Amino acid sequence: MSVSQSSLAHAGQEFMKSLYRLINTARIYRDNNQLIRKGVGELKGAIEALTGGDDISVHLWRGRFHIRGERLQYRRDLASIVNGMVAYFTQRNIGQIIFFNASRNVSIEDFVAMIRLLNDSVMSDDPPAWLEEKMLEHGFSWFQVVRKQDEELADKAASLEEERYEKARSTYIHAVDTVREVAQKACKGIVGVRKTRRLAQNIVDLVREDNSLMLGLASIKDYDDYTYTHSVNVALLATCLGRQINMSDISLEYLSVCGLLHDLGKVGVSKDVLHKQGELSVGEWDEMKAHPLIGVRKILRLNAPHKLRSRIILGPFEHHLNPDMSGYPRTIFMDKLSLIGKILRIADVYEALTAQRAYRARAFAPDEALRKMWSEREQKFDPILLKNFIKMMGIYPVGSMVELNDGHFALVMDYPEESRNDLPLVLLLVDDGKGNLIRGDMVYLADQVTKEGSLPLKIVRGVEPTRFGIQAAEFFLHEK
Ligand SMILES: [Fe+2]
Ligand SMILES: [Fe+2]
Repeated sequence: MSVSQSSLAHAGQEFMKSLYRLINTARIYRDNNQLIRKGVGELKGAIEALTGGDDISVHLWRGRFHIRGERLQYRRDLASIVNGMVAYFTQRNIGQIIFFNASRNVSIEDFVAMIRLLNDSVMSDDPPAWLEEKMLEHGFSWFQVVRKQDEELADKAASLEEERYEKARSTYIHAVDTVREVAQKACKGIVGVRKTRRLAQNIVDLVREDNSLMLGLASIKDYDDYTYTHSVNVALLATCLGRQINMSDISLEYLSVCGLLHDLGKVGVSKDVLHKQGELSVGEWDEMKAHPLIGVRKILRLNAPHKLRSRIILGPFEHHLNPDMSGYPRTIFMDKLSLIGKILRIADVYEALTAQRAYRARAFAPDEALRKMWSEREQKFDPILLKNFIKMMGIYPVGSMVELNDGHFALVMDYPEESRNDLPLVLLLVDDGKGNLIRGDMVYLADQVTKEGSLPLKIVRGVEPTRFGIQAAEFFLHEK
């Protein structure tokens, strides 16, 4: 993430915090109270830090705040404040508020008066209209409220989301091409690593911006090009997990490169062995087990700065080793795994379990895969990291297909509110009359208006999408 993005995230959080605080302080204290004056000072400071003097718009879209068009990223401990603000906007039917730059010169009294109007508007039948009238009465032209169902704004937000999808999608496609290119060139001779590194930086940026979108992309399974999509998926999952445990940007970049290159050694394994149905012979299994070591040899030959190379060797070497050093390749000179190695192991196993492979009848649904991995945590994984991974994925990870209590199938698209991790935003899948499931309505399970006598929709269980011939990621990318 660039400095400006991280400082935007920080300033956005400060803004939310001070707005929330002032709204609540204004409910209790009078205008000349010291806390009120302090609160106004803080909010103005936060606006200034956020914009450097420009206008600022705060937009609520699908349960998430966007500030200056960027989705607000916030720390977990701010979740209750952010959720409180979502409720505040929703109760007042507000979709957006704008502080114009003139708000910097407004007196404390006027600022508080505006906050009180916002607070009081909840009593009106039509808060946005009421507010507009009151703002006009007071001559508050430095502040504006826009109602929630403003189509034009909704479109704008949708197109920003669309742009983000597009960027993520092209990064994904580019990633698959790059991994293929490196793999093919590495067989022939020296290959540079600059492209891979730039790609890793992109992945880190995208994961920082919108980790659930990247998790959704990681559910793409391409059986023809499996080794390459697998590598990209492992890079995405690993980077998301690294972010979850607060790794630094530079470590995330190394981790992402490791994910992209972890199976580089598989290029040397013959296709017959890779795609064999049924059990491998001893010789074939030996060939398979050699891939981490062959991969490391290839990485050593990459044309890369010494520092980078030294940071991307261990992970690919270790990704099939268990914490007690069983697994492969056999090693006698190490007694514990590196953090990157342990993360790759989790991402690699999860990815492989959820993909359809020649040697088993069907893939695991995401929730099944997570349960299986959890049951093997002591032997195969770092249990604490695995716990973080499961927490990050949710019981039903973004991109997974689920069955609902009314018999509908749906795809999990996002978890807009961190605290409602059992109630995601889902896309209903409806029958097109010819037996195909197509895109239906989007329903946010945490925010349902149910008719009398009907139950709110809930997830009953996870379903494996290939049983229905579905590529979850395609719906995710608005293709269908
Ligand atoms: Fe591997
Ligand atoms: Fe792998």
